[in-house]
Amino acid sequence: MSEFAELKLDGKTYKLPIITGTEDEKAIDIRKLRAETNYITLDSGYGNSGSCQSSITFIDGDKGILRYRGYPIEQLAEKSTFTETAYLLVYGKLPTATELADFREMLTRHSLIHEDMLHFYDGYPSTAHPMAILSSMVCSLSSYYPEWLDPHDQNQVNQLVPRVLSKIRTIAAYSFKKSIGQPVIYPKNSLDYCANFLYMMFAVPSEPYEVDEEMVKTLNMLLILHADHEQNCSTSTVRMVGSSDANLFASIAAGILALWGPKHGGANQEVMEMLETIQRNDGDVKKAIEMAKDKNSGFRLMGFGHRVYKNHDPRAQVIKKACDRILAKMNRVDPLLEIAKRLEEAALKDSYFVDRKLYPNVDFYSGVIYRAMGIPTPMFTVMFALGRLPGWLAQWVEMHRDGEGRIDRPRQIYKGETVRDYTPIAQRK
Ligand code: CMC
Repeated sequence: MSEFAELKLDGKTYKLPIITGTEDEKAIDIRKLRAETNYITLDSGYGNSGSCQSSITFIDGDKGILRYRGYPIEQLAEKSTFTETAYLLVYGKLPTATELADFREMLTRHSLIHEDMLHFYDGYPSTAHPMAILSSMVCSLSSYYPEWLDPHDQNQVNQLVPRVLSKIRTIAAYSFKKSIGQPVIYPKNSLDYCANFLYMMFAVPSEPYEVDEEMVKTLNMLLILHADHEQNCSTSTVRMVGSSDANLFASIAAGILALWGPKHGGANQEVMEMLETIQRNDGDVKKAIEMAKDKNSGFRLMGFGHRVYKNHDPRAQVIKKACDRILAKMNRVDPLLEIAKRLEEAALKDSYFVDRKLYPNVDFYSGVIYRAMGIPTPMFTVMFALGRLPGWLAQWVEMHRDGEGRIDRPRQIYKGETVRDYTPIAQRK
C-alpha cells in the first residue's frame, strides 16, 4: 500500500509519496512539489535532502553502521583486499576467483601513464601540494582517451574504469617522487595493487627494495575503510559534475578537489599538524580543547565530528584498534599517538563534545599509521583519494545507469535587491 505525507499550503492539501529504503529509511518524495505548488524546499548543507536512490553504501549514523553492498565494513577491512572491495563497489558483487584475476590483470596492465605526462610534473614548483597535481593529472588523462569519453556508452566506460583505478596510483606515487627530487620508479607488474604503490613510492633505482607485507596489509585496510561513504561532499561533486555529462576524468578530478578541503579529506593532514602543534606546546591537550570550544578562535578539533555519525564512526574504531598493533609490528613508537589518545579522552569527557555528539572520525587516527609507513603528511589526502576512487567510480556509473538523466540544478531563494535602474557612473555615490 502506498504511503503519503500530507502538506497543507495556502488552504490546499497536497499528497506527497513516501519512499522507503531497504533498511527502512524514509523519505518524502518532493520531486513534483514545485510543479504542483510553486514552492521549493530550503536545505542549505543538504542535511535533510536525499539526492538519489542508491544501492552501493548503507550508513546508519546513529548506530555507527557502514556497509558496502550489504557487507559490514569491519568484515571487509579484516578479510578483503582493496582490489576486491573496489570490484565489489563498482560491479555490485564480490568477484569469483576468475573475475578477480581478470580485474587484477586489468589493473596491472594499465599501470603505466603516457610517458609525455612525466614532463607535466616538471612544470610544478617543488612546493606544489600533491592534491593540486593529482587533480590536474587525472583531468589531463582525458586528453589521452578522446575516443572513450561518452558517459552513456557502457563499453567506453568499461575501458576507463580499470585504467583510472590503476593510473591514479602511479600518478600519486610519481608526484611524491618529484616532490622529494628522486627519479620516478616505474610500476612493477609482478606486484599487487597496494604493493606496487608502495614500491613506486619507496624504491630507488640504486638499491634493491623489498615491499613489507605488513605495510601492504595495512594499506589494504586503510584504503578499504575509505572506499565509499555514500553522498558525502566529494561523491556528490562527482555525481553533480557527471550529471552535466562531463566525462569520467573531469568528474573524478572535481571529486578530488572537493576532497581536498579541511572539512572533508583534507582533515587527515590537519589532524597531524594539530598533533604536532600540541607536541610543541609540551603536549598540552587542554589548550586545544579550549580553543576548539571557543567559537571566536576559528579552530576546530580536526578529526572530530561528522555530519552523519552521531554515536561513533565505525572506520575510526577499526583504525584506532589497528594503530597499536601496527606500530608495534613496525617497531615504531610515535608520541603523536599518545597525544591523540589523550586528546580523544579529554574531548569525550567534555560536555561541549558530548552534547554535540562529536566523536573521532576516520581521519583522527589514520595519519598516525600513514606516518609510521613513511608517507609524508601532505600526501595523506592523496591517500584518501586513492581509497575513495572506487566509490566515486561506482556512484558515477550508477548515476548514469539508474539515475533520471537530469542535470543537477538546485534552486534558491533570492534575497537581493529588487529591480532598479542602471545608474550612470558620474551619478553614483
Ligand atoms: N571541533 C569543535 N566543534 C565542532 C567540531 C569540531 N571538530 N565539529 C563540529 N563542531 C560543533 C560546531 O561548531 C557546531 O556547534 P554549535 O551547534 O554550537 O554551532 C556543532 O558542533 C555542529 O557542527 P556543524 O558544523 O553544524 O556540523 P556539520 O555536520 O556541518 O559538520 C564536520 C561536520 C565534519 C564538517 C565538522 O564536524 C568538522 O568541521 N569537523 C572537523 C573536520 C573533520 O574532521 N573533517 C573530517 C570529516 S570525516 C572524513 C570526511 O568525510 O572527509
